[in-house]
Amino acid sequence: MTHIARQRDDLPLRLITAPASAPVSAPATPYLDLDLAVVRRQLAAIRAALPGTSIHYAVKCNPHPRIISVLAAEGCNFEIASIAELDLLLDAGAAYGSLLYSNPVKAPAHIGYAHAKGVRFFAADCADEIDKLARHAPGCSVILRIDVSNVGSVVPLAGKFGADPADVPALAVLARSKGLTPKGLTFHVGSQALDPRQWRDALVVCGQVMRQMLAVGLRISLIDLGGGYPVPYDGPVVPVAAIGLAVRDGAAELPYEVEFAAEPGRYLTAEAGTMVASVIGRASRRGEDWLHLDIGAFGGLMEALETRRGLRYPIRCTHAHGALSPRLVPMAITGPTCDSEDTILTDALVCRDLRTGDVVHLGLAGAYTTAYASTFNGFPLPAVITREHVAPSPSPHTSYDLAVSHA
Ligand SMILES: Cc1ncc(COP(=O)(O)O)c(C=O)c1O
Repeated sequence: MTHIARQRDDLPLRLITAPASAPVSAPATPYLDLDLAVVRRQLAAIRAALPGTSIHYAVKCNPHPRIISVLAAEGCNFEIASIAELDLLLDAGAAYGSLLYSNPVKAPAHIGYAHAKGVRFFAADCADEIDKLARHAPGCSVILRIDVSNVGSVVPLAGKFGADPADVPALAVLARSKGLTPKGLTFHVGSQALDPRQWRDALVVCGQVMRQMLAVGLRISLIDLGGGYPVPYDGPVVPVAAIGLAVRDGAAELPYEVEFAAEPGRYLTAEAGTMVASVIGRASRRGEDWLHLDIGAFGGLMEALETRRGLRYPIRCTHAHGALSPRLVPMAITGPTCDSEDTILTDALVCRDLRTGDVVHLGLAGAYTTAYASTFNGFPLPAVITREHVAPSPSPHTSYDLAVSHA
């Protein structure tokens, strides 16, 4: 039976769930179709690539409760950015003793709330945050975030967070002086990071910091490799196994052995999601074809905007029911709002005779989509349906088909 759950305050999605392999009657578009078997497959792949590394899913990427419960059942750990995400884990009954609260700057009340709930591992990248942790999470373990290169990342994060590596030993000494445990180092090489050497180079920087810390009598026990593991949006990307090899090379540069953690977000959920949308209009303007969908950047495909359309949801037409021409033409694909920034691609190749009422599928839409969605201009949030495909999932390195059918 398909059912629509009541909207929750902390998770503004319309939830539609179905038992594994049962047919799901589709809701109105736009909606995200999530295949939980793919989430499991991706978890297994990253575990194999990073043996011995504790995997902490970055909840921010897609906080859907079914993703949380599937990962929790697989023994995956979690990384949170907020106490709302902590509450989500508590609601799901997920074990969170080793939870990482990796947002480097947190409101004092949120630190206190998380500490009272049992969270013990907090990130920091500045003296002010260490002061707050000492006051609101006394005795906690601190994981110091280092600024590293984000070159080669499609969605870079550098700039906002990360201490200068030269300042980290002093921060660790400060943490120790306030009764905290300087437990480890962390970094983020940027999301959708295409060059595995960034992990190796970041570990070399960690090794330098560890040597400086030894000089002031401090040893860490953990390096958190952050997120960034890429997925094949519009072409193949380096396999996660290659990142595993780069990490192994980087680990060899460390002055002593430590444990490792990783915080994948996109890698675990992007390929699990297909955004199903409808064409609501088509126009030719200034010599260009425009296809208007019922979802755009503001409805959840925000990363297209964030990356100046550098992140391209994979598109290829198939002509269902023999109704559509196989000929592809370039079109701008935009959303339903009045804002031109709603446009997600300016040069997508799509079937030339698409028209209002047709349904289109955008692949690899399971990460940073529904989590970003707004009701800007009054358009509803995308619904979410979850399923477990019985058929084997396609290779992670084949591009996704944009299946198109006439209404
Ligand atoms: C602290 C932290 N960890 C992990 C992630 C997940 O990164 P990704 O989705 O690129 O794996 C993010 C993403 O912003 C982050 O800020």
